[in-house]
Amino acid sequence: MSIIEVDNASNIEVDPRGQGPDAPWHLTGSRAPVRDEVTITELEVKGSIPPELSGRYIRNTPNPQTGYTEHWFIGDGMLHGMELADGKANWYRNRYVRTPMFDNPGADRLTLALDPETFTFDHKVSAANTHIVSHGGKILALEEGSYPYEVTPELDTVGAHNFDGKLDGPFTAHPKFCAETGEMLGFGYAQVEPYLTYYRVSAAGELVQATNITVPGPTMMHDFAASRNYSIFMDLPVVFDMEMAMQGGMPFHWDDDYAARFGVMPRNGGDADVRWFDVDPCFVFHTMNAHEEGDDVVVYGCRSPEMWRNTSQIAVSDAPDPGDGPALHEWRFNMATGAVSERQLDDDASEFPRIPEHLQGFQTDYGYTIGMGNTADGSDAMAGRLCKYRLSDGDRQVHDFPLGHEPGEAVFVPAEGGTNSDDGYLMTYVWQPETDTSYMAILDATDMAADPIAEVHVPRRIVSGFHTSWIPDAT
Ligand SMILES: [Fe+2]
Repeated sequence: MSIIEVDNASNIEVDPRGQGPDAPWHLTGSRAPVRDEVTITELEVKGSIPPELSGRYIRNTPNPQTGYTEHWFIGDGMLHGMELADGKANWYRNRYVRTPMFDNPGADRLTLALDPETFTFDHKVSAANTHIVSHGGKILALEEGSYPYEVTPELDTVGAHNFDGKLDGPFTAHPKFCAETGEMLGFGYAQVEPYLTYYRVSAAGELVQATNITVPGPTMMHDFAASRNYSIFMDLPVVFDMEMAMQGGMPFHWDDDYAARFGVMPRNGGDADVRWFDVDPCFVFHTMNAHEEGDDVVVYGCRSPEMWRNTSQIAVSDAPDPGDGPALHEWRFNMATGAVSERQLDDDASEFPRIPEHLQGFQTDYGYTIGMGNTADGSDAMAGRLCKYRLSDGDRQVHDFPLGHEPGEAVFVPAEGGTNSDDGYLMTYVWQPETDTSYMAILDATDMAADPIAEVHVPRRIVSGFHTSWIPDAT
């Protein structure tokens, strides 16, 4: 029997716009926010947790305190963590990241961040709701419009982190971690110049490079990629729109006149070193990985043919056209000839790509995504399936969860003593609608179709959201 301690129950008034049958998609089902912060122990385990998994699995997710936001991307960040050790699940807990936005529920972000006297932005104003990573001995909750936020292993907020004052702008939610040097590579994008700044952070956590990169306009740059020798920027046709910003929504839209380009820069290089390659127009929220093969820099990512032409909502239809969805794609940029080649690896939509983190920047055999299909209503939503792609030819294996169950982004954790690159575990939280509860599923990545090795059940909803990390004790 689980023991639930309520650590902080919200007394903020609920906004009725997030309730009832007219509530927007991003506030319903698995995405409906929870009201309180809890710690739960004595968790029910089915199967057996591999004893070598010792650490914490954490998901970051938007969870507006008022119960309402205009857009999926802008709710207050809430972390959902589970600690595993010695084959046991010690606890589950959920905690808001304490930010100025948390302190001012429902307040307008621009009003909080912008100083009208000096026309400068307070980069501590963050939802801190997108990713959670570990680097240089710190656990950082990330959101691309602001500074990172440091939290403890128990998910309590330490505060905004600007690398001892060296960071003077937003920092991406998708930094890359070099398997060889231990560096954290990142960037920030902004709506005023400089539109793009590249950052390199040493293994010890010191910000050692900040380089402005010239791009024609203020595009939305959610992710980038890094190979062993290059950092790769995606300058794509989703651009900032001041009018939309003043209205309070997601201030970006598709622009047919903005060229789609990837910029490949030596990892320690500068603006003049970037080589830009034109690509077919597209938008890419997430890359899977990048590596080098001879003169080619190869990038894998989930490519959409376009994004946000008429609306910036993510789900605009209950029956999306599969051809509009993001699908796994390969770009090859030849550094000798300047040639570009592209190929789509799967016709079906797929998102939240991950690879074994210890192979980031190097050629990997496999990558993992949330896939389309296996939904209770027969729709083509990306909801009930995890995919394993063999990147050489796009061969796909899947794990279908019981109909209606919704996994989130899966993290690959290598098995101790493993010899093949897929020897390891896929970990994800899964929501089950019949009970409105959730569980962590631990899959054997070498046998996708098999039942989970273990399930750790949490007697309440772990809200669906964005990105996750497994942070082993050793870090
Ligand atoms: Fe993301």
